[in-house]
Amino acid sequence: MSKSDAYNLKYHITPTHGLLNDPNGLAYFQGQYHVFYQWNPYGTEHKNKSWGHVVSDDLVNWHRKETALVPSEWYDKDGIYSGGSIVHEGKLYLFYTGNVINKDGTRASYQCAAVSEDGHQFQKLGPLFEHPAGYTRHVRDPKVWKDDSGNWWLIVGAQREDLTGDALVYKSEDLISWSCQGSFLEQEHSFGYMWECPDVLQFPEHDVFVFSPQGLPEEGDQYKNPNQSGYIIGRISESGKFLGTLSDFNELDRGFDFYAPQTFKVNNRILMFGWMSAMTEETEQAVPTIEEGWVHALTLPREIVFADGVLYQRPLHELQLLRQHEVHEGISNSGQWSLPSLAAEVVIRFMEQPDSFQLIIRNSVQIDYDHEQNSLTVWRTNWLTNEKEHRRAVLGHSLAELHMFIESSSIELFVNEGEEVFSLRYFLEDTNERSVRFESDCSEAVLSMYRLQESIDEE
Ligand code: FRU
Repeated sequence: MSKSDAYNLKYHITPTHGLLNDPNGLAYFQGQYHVFYQWNPYGTEHKNKSWGHVVSDDLVNWHRKETALVPSEWYDKDGIYSGGSIVHEGKLYLFYTGNVINKDGTRASYQCAAVSEDGHQFQKLGPLFEHPAGYTRHVRDPKVWKDDSGNWWLIVGAQREDLTGDALVYKSEDLISWSCQGSFLEQEHSFGYMWECPDVLQFPEHDVFVFSPQGLPEEGDQYKNPNQSGYIIGRISESGKFLGTLSDFNELDRGFDFYAPQTFKVNNRILMFGWMSAMTEETEQAVPTIEEGWVHALTLPREIVFADGVLYQRPLHELQLLRQHEVHEGISNSGQWSLPSLAAEVVIRFMEQPDSFQLIIRNSVQIDYDHEQNSLTVWRTNWLTNEKEHRRAVLGHSLAELHMFIESSSIELFVNEGEEVFSLRYFLEDTNERSVRFESDCSEAVLSMYRLQESIDEE
């Protein structure tokens, strides 16, 4: 089975075959960007996880590498689960969770490390510490950082024995011996049943705790996907406690398909990739590419900027390197155009706050702007149920720009330079359809469309 052009993605990181999920171990090491990802090379179910590996000189053009970590030891025999990385004394250290299913069906998880001198061959260092008391076996996804005094900190997602989510923080002076500092949040809390993929972002005035809580009940326009990813803003105390409140939890992406993001810092920029999926298992198994033996993709890399008390996510300016051919058109109220390719980028810049409008992409995905509410609603057809479904966000500023990365089966919509982002997968029967339709009574805008080149070499 091989990938057909119908739904393959040309400038996103996808697996050659099998199932991809979370981005892992993001690093800049020896002059190259490294992206690892959760990968089942043997099938399209959530099993046999290893770390797939791609590298890039520019964050845009990717080369595939040999699998970095595969299950091989007693402590990771049933899966190399998610985690982060650090560069220290010229070596690249990966941190991951070893998943173990015992003969009697019970499970265990071990927080492990591996090290590399060249960024390609990794030597496993084994588990770092004992399983914490008071927590179920759902402890995973270690992420490590260094503070200004040279201490190392490690955060893991966890579930307490009362089946509520939590994150634990550990401290080390040498990356070898780690001491548990307890729950990362100072605040008492009960927020979902498990927190996955915790991450910490540091800005001059604020720290940001990013995590993926499972089991938040839907609330208006919020928490509509099976699992969420979001953040709270606060400050980390000297003892490693995060001072911030969960009532301020803010979802990172307002679309249908975004989960388990991870960040890394390079040259003072904080960059993030996410997994472009937040599907139920049933929806996942109905994705048409499963028939071709592969499923899922990472999001495009995004730069995270802290402004007006929130995180903005901007598509990396390096993505402009992919532009091959461009078309610019004026929009006056309404119009219809054709995408230059199914690997495209489309930008609509409004001259002034637009009137209400509808933007319909490929006769399928619809973006409605409501002028009164200053809200955007994105509609797609669910490929499992065939029903229309939507996600909505009210904007904090007047609408100035829609910036879309449109592929044959994915769209990432950045609003107002990343004030909100909507990521989604969609699967059309008419795979040749390329129309873009704009319908409004009174809106003036400039439309720019680009054809983008393929960015992963399949050597
Ligand atoms: C998030 C997650 C992580 C885990 C990995 C397993 O999608 O469930 O918590 O480490 O995926 O593939």
